[in-house]
Amino acid sequence: MMKKTLVFKVNSKKPELEAIRAAANIIKNGGLVAFPTETVYGLGADALNAKAVLALFEAKKRPLDNPPIVHVGKIENVYKLVREVPPKAEVLMRKFWPGPLTLIFKRSDVVPSVTVAGLDTIAIRMPRHIVALALLRESNCPIAAPSANLAGKPSPTSANHVLEDLNGRIDAVLDAGPTHIGVESTVLDMTAKPPQILRPGGTPYEELRKVLSNVELHPVAVADREIPVEKARSPGVKHKHYAPNAEVVLVEGEPSKIPSKVNELVDFYKQENKRVGVLTTDENFSHYRADVVKSLGSRKNLTVIANNLFRLLREFDAEKVDVIIAEGLPMERLGLAVMNRLRKAAGYKIFKA
Ligand code: TXA
Ligand code: MG
Repeated sequence: MMKKTLVFKVNSKKPELEAIRAAANIIKNGGLVAFPTETVYGLGADALNAKAVLALFEAKKRPLDNPPIVHVGKIENVYKLVREVPPKAEVLMRKFWPGPLTLIFKRSDVVPSVTVAGLDTIAIRMPRHIVALALLRESNCPIAAPSANLAGKPSPTSANHVLEDLNGRIDAVLDAGPTHIGVESTVLDMTAKPPQILRPGGTPYEELRKVLSNVELHPVAVADREIPVEKARSPGVKHKHYAPNAEVVLVEGEPSKIPSKVNELVDFYKQENKRVGVLTTDENFSHYRADVVKSLGSRKNLTVIANNLFRLLREFDAEKVDVIIAEGLPMERLGLAVMNRLRKAAGYKIFKA
């Protein structure tokens, strides 16, 4: 069913209260509002309203077995949603919230089953974006918000990306310009011993290790091949993810050897009459003879690279390339999140340089 999607432009630092209140009223009435967070845009619904959350899954065409993240405006709002807060989670909330860290807890009974896809756990985070925090405050409820894209598409880092996917399917979007981080939050399972990173994201593993004496990366989070579904703890990991329309292939290995392998693949796909894109870095930009070449930024600045990733994947689609050949990046800091997304986008089609 198509509806008119309202667009509220708001100042990202001093959001207009009128727009925030209008958006909050939609949430309180069971509607769907996309809003910016520091990572990507989320699609919000009242997390305690089962009907609203079901509509959220439908708008995104998201499989019902993949639960969204529940957003809170204050640490104290976590307690009624969970059965217990482990002491280590307490420390993490104080150190990293508001921010791009999602924690998995045992859930309490106030949370509708649909919000957690029938699981006995819940994913919660407090976002670090003034607009998101204002919306949470005015809505006065926890907000379930997966990334505001159609299921399987790259996450939106601007309101335009949201509208590309969801115009006519949601009630409103709060447009506060591009997001700051550009990849989703780190998902950390606090019910596992030791705590386990299910999805690398905006809070680097290296930072978590400084605070937790023991923290593990789930094998799926760093896999360079498909992992059997039953081993996938985070429900999201078994679904196709982050994929633009174009086929993606990834070239990993020694940075100095990557360009010749990429060009070999460019020639191969050109012979097949494909329109070929290369997703590269500033250092290698001049090496390529593809139809469309785009740089994520310098290999030395993984923060900038993360910020450009999803936007560039969408830009390749706009340029109608058939295949995107992407360069592998260092598996450190935000590079770990970027590589996790690229490997999934490639369906693990990885060439070694
Ligand atoms: O940065 C972000 O995290 C963005 C912004 C909007 O906050 N949100 C986001 O949500 O990326 P979503 O729904 O696209 O991804 C949530 C991830 C999925 O991989 C899902 O499977 C996992 O969190 N997840 C949710 N609940 C879980 C649970 N109870 N146990 C394990 N994984 C869970
Ligand atoms: Mg998502």
